[in-house]
Amino acid sequence: MNKKIVLGTDHGGFELKERIKKYLEETGNMVTDIGVLNKDSVDYPDIAFKACAEYNAGNYDFGILFCGTGIGISIAANKVKGIRCANVHDLFTAEMAKAHNNANFLAFGGRIEYQTPVEKLIEKFIQTTYEAGRHERRVSKITCA
Ligand code: RB5
Repeated sequence: MNKKIVLGTDHGGFELKERIKKYLEETGNMVTDIGVLNKDSVDYPDIAFKACAEYNAGNYDFGILFCGTGIGISIAANKVKGIRCANVHDLFTAEMAKAHNNANFLAFGGRIEYQTPVEKLIEKFIQTTYEAGRHERRVSKITCA
């Protein structure tokens, strides 16, 4: 897939992050893992802010964040200027996150039972093109000054 992707997780998403990291590397992507690297308890805002800083500094295609639900870490990431983090759950939300919202981060939960494997949701996001057009004005309104 040849994308440059930054990953970050708290302890709640650690195992899912490890699985997705392996998948992304095996499918030809360049992955930077900002941690965590074990299941010791950490605070998800710290991880979100570190991953977003890396994204903003590093010319990445997009980032993927993990926590127990994907909720806390996406809320934190969306506090960072320029970040649009989508907590997606199925193929439709994975597609819309790119097509309409031009999301630059996805968030997933390590404690969620996804009906569609997270690998497939990431593939859908990558394969989808941002539609721009009427969405450009809306997206620009959430790119805070
Ligand atoms: C950590 O226990 C958990 O609260 C966190 O991973 C996340 O689910 C928060 O939204």
